[in-house]
Amino acid sequence: MITDLEGHFRGLVPPRRELLRRLEEEAAQERIPIVGPVVGELLFILATAMGARDILELGTATGYSAIYLAEAAAAVGGRVISLEWDADMARRARENLVAGGLAAHAEVRLGDAQELLAGMIGPFDLVFMDIDKESYLPALPGIHRLLRPGGLLVVDNTGFQGAADFNSALRQDHRWRSVHLLTFLPQHSPEQDGLALAVKVAA
Ligand SMILES: C[S@@+](CC[C@H](N)C(=O)[O-])C[C@H]1O[C@@H](n2cnc3c(N)ncnc32)[C@H](O)[C@@H]1O
Repeated sequence: MITDLEGHFRGLVPPRRELLRRLEEEAAQERIPIVGPVVGELLFILATAMGARDILELGTATGYSAIYLAEAAAAVGGRVISLEWDADMARRARENLVAGGLAAHAEVRLGDAQELLAGMIGPFDLVFMDIDKESYLPALPGIHRLLRPGGLLVVDNTGFQGAADFNSALRQDHRWRSVHLLTFLPQHSPEQDGLALAVKVAA
């Protein structure tokens, strides 16, 4: 194995533009738990590889991950809808998406994700979930309804205690094929966590 494995991987964190670096600094100062550049780039890569046009995000904060997703969507003329219940966060996210030149490819909706999901019409190609962890399991039926067959669900922070029931339920649900990763993610909050990827294989 590589000596100082974690240090080596810290040196491989993807480069990113100034706007994203500013949001990282703000998040560090204000203790806003954004995904950071490794998961951000992963989201961009997954969305780009799928050619995802319709992307749904649960949990916007200041729009950091939404920028990565919107960049991927913009390349194929698609869009991201991101759900956030904190009005000040939603306002900041909208401003940051404008600053990133992505306003035409992203919409931030204000409200409780669970309630907003119930009124939404799909299908979405990709869903990224990053809200309070106790809401993961209750949100799963709505996500399943909105995701197209073969669509991808990406879930952050699955190492949190509040996500444990969700992890078990997702693994046991025959309508999903899922993989649960125990992760070391430099500049993620926290660096040691879990990440789940799941494909909708049955209605
Ligand atoms: C972990 S942060 C999202 C970070 C963002 N995905 C990023 O990486 O840039 C979670 C955000 O979701 C919001 N949130 C938490 N639970 C929510 C819920 N049930 N409905 C809507 N928003 C929620 C919080 O206000 C917070 O801004």
